[in-house]
Amino acid sequence: MKIVTVVGARPQFVKAACVSREISRRSGIREILVHTGQHFDANMSDVFFEEMEIPRPHYHLDVHSMNHGAMTGRMLEKIESVLLEEDPEVVLVYGDTNSTLAGALAARKLHINVVHVEAGLRSFNMRMPEEVNRVLTDRISDLLCCPTQTAVENLDREGFSHLPCVVSRTGDVMQDAALYYSRLSADRSSVLSDLGLVGKAFALCTVHRAENTDDPVRLANIVEALNSISAMLEVVVPLHPRTAKVLAASGLNTFFKVIPPVGYFDMIELLKASQIVLTDSGGLQKEAFFFESPCVTLRDETEWVELIESGVNVLAGASKEKIVSCFNLMMHRAVDATLDLYGGGQAAVNVVNEVLSLKSTPG
Ligand code: UD1
Repeated sequence: MKIVTVVGARPQFVKAACVSREISRRSGIREILVHTGQHFDANMSDVFFEEMEIPRPHYHLDVHSMNHGAMTGRMLEKIESVLLEEDPEVVLVYGDTNSTLAGALAARKLHINVVHVEAGLRSFNMRMPEEVNRVLTDRISDLLCCPTQTAVENLDREGFSHLPCVVSRTGDVMQDAALYYSRLSADRSSVLSDLGLVGKAFALCTVHRAENTDDPVRLANIVEALNSISAMLEVVVPLHPRTAKVLAASGLNTFFKVIPPVGYFDMIELLKASQIVLTDSGGLQKEAFFFESPCVTLRDETEWVELIESGVNVLAGASKEKIVSCFNLMMHRAVDATLDLYGGGQAAVNVVNEVLSLKSTPG
């Protein structure tokens, strides 16, 4: 079986790493990797390929830094050319980015099986570009690999049991990655000593969602909250280029430690050592849980509702007072990472098993 995998943004490199390794272990299946180019800075892309030993992409499409329509359209056209050339039986896409939607749509129109890893997640906020990408990708997928039971139930409610597709709860490939790479990260990362954080208490924070970076009021509230928290606990912020640009233009004062985006090993070491995580990232909410840090989510909703229900994560939105009060509430909250929410590290095996049992033509 020939598979074309489409990745393009940082979280997809993390998700693809374990599945690509599992594919390379199996006979009868071959993977062609396509990088759309959506993330292109060395510390947003290359570092993940090197550290996680992801094979070099066969195709690099160099599409980035455009409005959503132009970006998705350009990717669609270029992925279609690759698929016509490669003629695969399956196209594998991850998550919720413009690269995900472009890969799925190109494949669907060519009657190639679409596999969506991280299917069924919903924020129920259609103003988020990621929610639009998820809903549309799920609807045109033949195999939907769900990370959680909630994701399976979301699809059930939307009537997927009546569609000619397979919905499977495979578990979350991000837990596979966290388990695998956390065995290596201490030897491969010097981030804690480089930043003078050895033995120190600190909060780890990331902000990059459009809803926060593109709204000056929300961004100012978040910055003010982080400034207040910095008076109580050091705050370390590996900053996404999107946020760095907006922050530089805003003139807002920051009293916290801003560092460039970090690689996966550094991120694991920061997570392991952090007292608490504040983030608007989907992936980091789960990684906080995997590495036993309580989490304050800088959004009004989350796809990872089981973390909220388990009491290890709270939604603070973007109000200064609420962020600071959630920080105080969660700061000493114990996190039981043994709760089985995400499949326990077997997701990549399950995904590849499901892919291999797909019938050759989509329904
Ligand atoms: C994208 C995804 C989001 C995902 C996130 C992870 C979409 C709609 N959004 O958001 O789901 O959570 O990636 O990081 O696909 N930029 C750089 N260097 C880079 C990458 C981006 O400077 O290496 C700049 C771009 O030029 C652009 C901005 O950052 O100005 C935003 O990048 P973009 O790819 O549009 O979206 P993300 O915010 O990264």
